[in-house]
Amino acid sequence: RSVVAQLFLQLLLVTAILGEDHYMRADFPADFVFGSGTSASQYEGAAFEDGRTPSIWDTFAHSGRTNGANGDVACDGYHKYKDDIGLMVDTGLEAFRFSISWSRLIPNGRGPINEKGLQYYNDLINELITHGIQPHFTLTHIDTPQALEDEDGGWLSREIVKDFLEFANVCFREFGDRVLHWTTINEANVASLGGYDEGAIAPAHCSRRPFCAKGDSTTEPYTVVHNMLLAHSAAAKLYKEKYKATQNGEVGINIYTLGIVPYSNSTEDVIAAQRARDFYFGWVINPLVFGDYPDTVKKRVQTRIPAFTEHESKQIKGSFDFIGSNHYTTVYVKDDPNTKRDIKDFYADMAVELIFGQSTGAPAEGYNVVPWGLKELLEYLKQAYGNPPIYIQENGQMTRRNATLNDTSRMEYLQAYIGSVLDAVRNGSNTKGYFVWTFLDCLELLSGYEKSFGLYYVDLDDEELKRYQKLSARWYSNFLKGKSSRL
Ligand code: NOJ
Repeated sequence: RSVVAQLFLQLLLVTAILGEDHYMRADFPADFVFGSGTSASQYEGAAFEDGRTPSIWDTFAHSGRTNGANGDVACDGYHKYKDDIGLMVDTGLEAFRFSISWSRLIPNGRGPINEKGLQYYNDLINELITHGIQPHFTLTHIDTPQALEDEDGGWLSREIVKDFLEFANVCFREFGDRVLHWTTINEANVASLGGYDEGAIAPAHCSRRPFCAKGDSTTEPYTVVHNMLLAHSAAAKLYKEKYKATQNGEVGINIYTLGIVPYSNSTEDVIAAQRARDFYFGWVINPLVFGDYPDTVKKRVQTRIPAFTEHESKQIKGSFDFIGSNHYTTVYVKDDPNTKRDIKDFYADMAVELIFGQSTGAPAEGYNVVPWGLKELLEYLKQAYGNPPIYIQENGQMTRRNATLNDTSRMEYLQAYIGSVLDAVRNGSNTKGYFVWTFLDCLELLSGYEKSFGLYYVDLDDEELKRYQKLSARWYSNFLKGKSSRL
């Protein structure tokens, strides 16, 4: 063998031995982007300031449902964004994922623009751009204006498609010269299931529990995702026709993606796992890629899921430049044909049991650490959907809020999961970016201020809400600045 061939083999061997826990920023493609994020209602605060009106999230939180906490002040990002962008610069973030509060920009959801809201987002975007941080913006993150909820029923009504389109138009027109990465809707599947089936998030509809707002979970979740797909595709079409030529940005939608693995290799469990993928992901992604819901879903849900007209199907098919994927953990899926659920809802339709199993690290508060699950998920999305561009828009570890700044387990979690993304990319996945959830310890959806995912701790007892760097932030920063990922 020639010396060159031997050297090459040795290099391969070294790479194989070092594996995924020893990698560098430069191992990712040059245009791969690393960032972190948060959302308007979890970060901004200033809930009643400068003309903002309530969102369904404010209403929900004020009913005591977020563990008694609300977003009235949150991390006060409305006033502190400059300092926070300073921290982002120190950390070496390349991109920041954020959402626009619809009811701050267009109070009441439709009608005139709030100049103060416009100013805030312009200032925030300019500050990011000045510091070389790419803004990745989400249009709506579980915070529909309460006025639209009251007037028409929010996402249950087709009316929202028009209102959302106008909101998107304002955002593209006002910010699109600087914002090139647009996500229309955050976690379309969870916004629907959490909001209209389980009643765990705003607007808290469900059929089961006595304390939920009255809803019909046999049909509402399906109606909501249907309207979301119509709204998303209308916005994507608008962008393509009116803004793409001058702005040249991209538009996608976000879904929550669990890793899904059959519990056993029995035929039943293997089929059940595929059914779970069809229900959780295919529900949103199949229409985008193929123009219709998966057959499995249609067969089981029958007339309770709305049908697309030919025109709608055509508009939705291909209406995305990327899929945003939020990923935290992996579950085993077991066939559950005799599901005991008394209501024929999404979960009864799906007929599987989810089993939270193996964890390679200390299990976080509720999430098992299964880094290889992310690689498998990305591989699945590649195979099933023709390798669409993907951004991992959320990944991170939940812990008790102020346990320690020495958050070794979060650092290990991030290191392992980013390694898993690298494996997927090396295997040909078209994943284009990764965002740690979340930049700061702000308001968490279900647990209020008790648990958090932040790279930075925020001292809520301090008048200034002082921010403190955690170990995980230091590790991420070192990695972003070119050091090895080794712990
Ligand atoms: C999903 C949501 O998009 C985000 O708002 C939330 O804080 C995280 N996951 C963690 O629960």
